[in-house]
Amino acid sequence: MASAKRVVLAYSGGVDTTACIPYLRHEMGCEFIVAMAADLGQGDELEPIRQKALHAGADVSLVVDAKERFVREYGFPAVKANALYDGQYPLSSALGRPLIGDLLVETAHAYECGAVAHGCTGKGNDQVRLDLTVALLDSGLKILAPAREWSFSRAETIAYSEKFGIAGHVSKEKPWAIDLNILGRNVEAGLIEDLTWEPTEEVWALTRPAEEAPDTPEYVAIGFEAGVPVALDGVPLGPTALVEQLNTLGGRHGIGRIDMLENRVVGVKSRELYEAPGVLLLIQAHRELEQLTLPADVLAHKLPLEAAYARTVYDGLWHGPLRAALDAFVESTQRHVTGEIRLKLYKGRASVAARRAERALYRHELVTYGPECTFDQSSAEGFIDIFGLPSRVWNAVNG
Ligand code: ARG
Repeated sequence: MASAKRVVLAYSGGVDTTACIPYLRHEMGCEFIVAMAADLGQGDELEPIRQKALHAGADVSLVVDAKERFVREYGFPAVKANALYDGQYPLSSALGRPLIGDLLVETAHAYECGAVAHGCTGKGNDQVRLDLTVALLDSGLKILAPAREWSFSRAETIAYSEKFGIAGHVSKEKPWAIDLNILGRNVEAGLIEDLTWEPTEEVWALTRPAEEAPDTPEYVAIGFEAGVPVALDGVPLGPTALVEQLNTLGGRHGIGRIDMLENRVVGVKSRELYEAPGVLLLIQAHRELEQLTLPADVLAHKLPLEAAYARTVYDGLWHGPLRAALDAFVESTQRHVTGEIRLKLYKGRASVAARRAERALYRHELVTYGPECTFDQSSAEGFIDIFGLPSRVWNAVNG
């Protein structure tokens, strides 16, 4: 069995995960530390981060480019499920954690480590997601969470690192905390905890205020194949390029800002800000295409499962049986969700401008009042008679 003194740490280059390195070695008895930074499109320069972990005392420091895998294996399945937590949050941060957990486990196996570690505190959702991912994938791995154990303030964390010669924590303290990846950006804590405080423009980074969006609308046609986004304006694009382009486009038109109260897994309510223009545009277009290609009863049964899907992902149970079962249902509905939805982007919102699908269930000859109509109106009376029968009986008996 791999020794628990050999550990892989999920590393971000931030103050907390950096302090985790000496803490793991000197307070928790680890002898071999692999720092693993995952690139999920947070836009950081990664080589300095890799170097920083070595400087802080890691034996091995790795950067894993996981952007494409993130969008393809986590982002797009969530789009197929139209997954919005509490009806609003497209899970941009939440979806990243099972992937980081996957990478921790894969790296632990590659380096014969018996433990994994992360820098999450005990108050958030991320610890739940990482711990659960690791426990579900390899229950033999020990999980170390230094920041859940120490009771350092921010200043004490920096002082602790400095004791081990780790400098360069230019503490440009922002009055909030940021989590960024290709699917979206989250801002929480600090000033945002004041529910009466309206965010000022410095909080936002991916989106313009709607009032300052261009005066002329812009259109984008999103192409899907079996529920998977594959093209913009007819041009086939890989997952990362597609999401990046939609982020830019949506952001320019002030689309994708969310200011919400959120129910955390650990039981507290928190106020969170998000910017996720690309994923929100994808979900809007995908929903419309489903409306065109799926029958009403399938749509009706998919809807509550979408909420369950979002909750399951939010709760960190990506690798549990419920998500797998929900995904199997969602997947079975997507076979003919193929076509193109054209959106009009204007002043903070997107509206549907055109829809097209080869297997559209919208049949003009059925719905039209024109002479080409094939709908047999003579059956309507009998249909209504039987359709209303249970209600008529109820009213007669109880009315
Ligand atoms: N509250 C959001 C969620 O639970 C965002 C978490 C962001 N993580 C962070 N370490 N700042 O999904």
